[in-house]
Amino acid sequence: MKNADLTDLKGKDLVAALDFRKLPKVLLHEHLDGGLRPSTVIELARENGYTGLPTEDAGELAAWFHRGAQRGNLPEYLEGFAHTCGVMQTEEALERVAYEFMEDMKEDGVVYAEVRFAPLLHTEGGLTQDEAVRAALAGLRRGEKDFGVKWGLIICALRHLNTSLEAAELAIRWREAGVVGFDLAGGESGFPPKKHVDAFHAIQRANFHITIHAGEAFGVESIWQALQYCGAHRLGHATRLRDDMEVQSDGSLKLGSLAQYVLDRRVPLEMCLYSNLHTGACHDLAQHPFGLFFRNGFRVCLNTDDRLMSDTTMTKETILAAELFDLSLADVEKLNLNAIKSAFAPFDKRIDIIFNSIKPGYAALRGE
Ligand code: HPA
Ligand code: ZN
Repeated sequence: MKNADLTDLKGKDLVAALDFRKLPKVLLHEHLDGGLRPSTVIELARENGYTGLPTEDAGELAAWFHRGAQRGNLPEYLEGFAHTCGVMQTEEALERVAYEFMEDMKEDGVVYAEVRFAPLLHTEGGLTQDEAVRAALAGLRRGEKDFGVKWGLIICALRHLNTSLEAAELAIRWREAGVVGFDLAGGESGFPPKKHVDAFHAIQRANFHITIHAGEAFGVESIWQALQYCGAHRLGHATRLRDDMEVQSDGSLKLGSLAQYVLDRRVPLEMCLYSNLHTGACHDLAQHPFGLFFRNGFRVCLNTDDRLMSDTTMTKETILAAELFDLSLADVEKLNLNAIKSAFAPFDKRIDIIFNSIKPGYAALRGE
């Protein structure tokens, strides 16, 4: 097939014609403790005397994580993190996981990645939260040297705890070393973002960046609070924003005021298709609101969330979206431009990645 023909292909035909792994991709939403290689979990457990794993066979362990995470609700989805965090309690372990993350990104065709974690979950073995952040940053830096992938680290606070201000201050303290923003993660139901408003105000006063998991396991109210109480610059998932819009009988879309605000303000939506299926945020991927949001101009991007638990990669997410929503190569490029425009990296770095990596990458595929 001549390259120029690729521009006419869509969906399954595009997937059949192209190696999606090679497409330049941008990932904004992945958890460091949700993306370990099964073999690494086992090796780290051995090295650190962690005895809680259900099996020491890498294939069985991968299947165990996938099964556990795919029970259709967020609390059970999150149970597997006890084991991944259990083996990430030393600086060496955190450095290694961060380094391998970068190697995996290179393999997956990702040119810029933001990865997040909650340092508080890595202090059981005696590390301080600052040591945990330093170790993750060291692994990411070493990974960039070896694999050339650009990155940023996001610090997560946990919505069921009252330590979010401390996490916000930690994020701000490390901003010169590669931390690019702050997130609120964990079980959503019963833990509204506005309870953490002090932490978000600290981030705002520091002129820093906010993304919040919202509208995944809870509805529009959570998204509204994330934006209007907490000042979120991006939203993680936001699947339930669908509840604030209505497809009318003539096919046109009627938006509620929140959805209109998200569209008008170009609020980036970090969507995670497989994860949403696994947590029950969506029951049928063909009906996932990603398609509706994308076709109506919302600033959406594709993400993995937890590569281990959801058995996914950026390549798989992109193939899935292309097949389900009949995407063209221009659509895939647009999604990755949406992502890099929404990254928390400084403007100059984003421009560099757009014009020296993403645009030339897609132009070359089209034979330009
Ligand atoms: N939601 C909230 N917290 C999380 C998730 C998620 O999908 N994945 C890892 N931590
Ligand atoms: Zn997430």
